[in-house]
Amino acid sequence: MNVLNQFIERTQLIQEWIYDAAKLIKSSFEENLDIQQKSNRNDLVTNIDKAVEKQFIEKIHQFFPGERIMGEEGFGDEFQNLDGIVWIIDPIDGTLNFIKQQYDFAIMVAVYEDGIGQAGFIYDVMQDKMYSAHKGKGAYCNKKKLPPVKDLSLKEGLVAISSALMSKEEGLARLVGRASSGVRLIGSAGIETAHVASGQLIGYIAASLAPWDIAAGKIIAEEVGLIYTKMNGSSIDLLQKNPSLVATPTAHKEIIMLLNTKK
Ligand code: IPD
Ligand code: CA
Ligand code: CA
Ligand code: CA
Repeated sequence: MNVLNQFIERTQLIQEWIYDAAKLIKSSFEENLDIQQKSNRNDLVTNIDKAVEKQFIEKIHQFFPGERIMGEEGFGDEFQNLDGIVWIIDPIDGTLNFIKQQYDFAIMVAVYEDGIGQAGFIYDVMQDKMYSAHKGKGAYCNKKKLPPVKDLSLKEGLVAISSALMSKEEGLARLVGRASSGVRLIGSAGIETAHVASGQLIGYIAASLAPWDIAAGKIIAEEVGLIYTKMNGSSIDLLQKNPSLVATPTAHKEIIMLLNTKK
């Protein structure tokens, strides 16, 4: 079996695990969450984020022993490099939305091999939309193949920005807002990236995304012809946080030009 088929064969299993995780998340809606603060009052984690991550890790250990796992909540391995097969898990992307809205949050799973994205999954739990992609095989929303994106320019579409970018770099947010059709804020890097991939947005810009915020979305985005880089145009580094930009090729160039004018 070649390497690519090996990752396609994992799809059903991974999606089953994601649907199980979604059930666990939804079953918590009527319960009191145990909420803890991480780096600041807007950086929260719940018992459910932790339980979902542990559930994925248990299953990966059972089915794929020896493969390394990078998880946001710290139950996986430590990483100095991305050699071999690496799972990158964000158990709940949009934890603040999960806590405050019970809406607009996603489960994200990606599988990389020697630093190259092979399979990515973003599940928008409340919309029941499973965005997925395998390297070289296109991207899907549920069973529907996503067409290649139209290469629209900034003025032709809506751009999502992260709330951290809005509060720390309001000058940039204003510039992009003025040059585009408008700015949108959802609060889940995964869902925002999925909406760029499905053509509802033409770009998404975030001040500082962690590897698990990026990993699945980057694979899906690249399969539909989007460009996913750091905000200065250089390659994403999945061993650290990145100021990130994903957009249509034309909007990507335009946003980088705007960033340079700002300096
Ligand atoms: C966060 C969300 C948010 C983005 C933050 C991420 P989390 O992920 O994707 O939209 O602006 O940078 O950390 O912590 O909810 O998994
Ligand atoms: Ca978090
Ligand atoms: Ca996240
Ligand atoms: Ca998370």
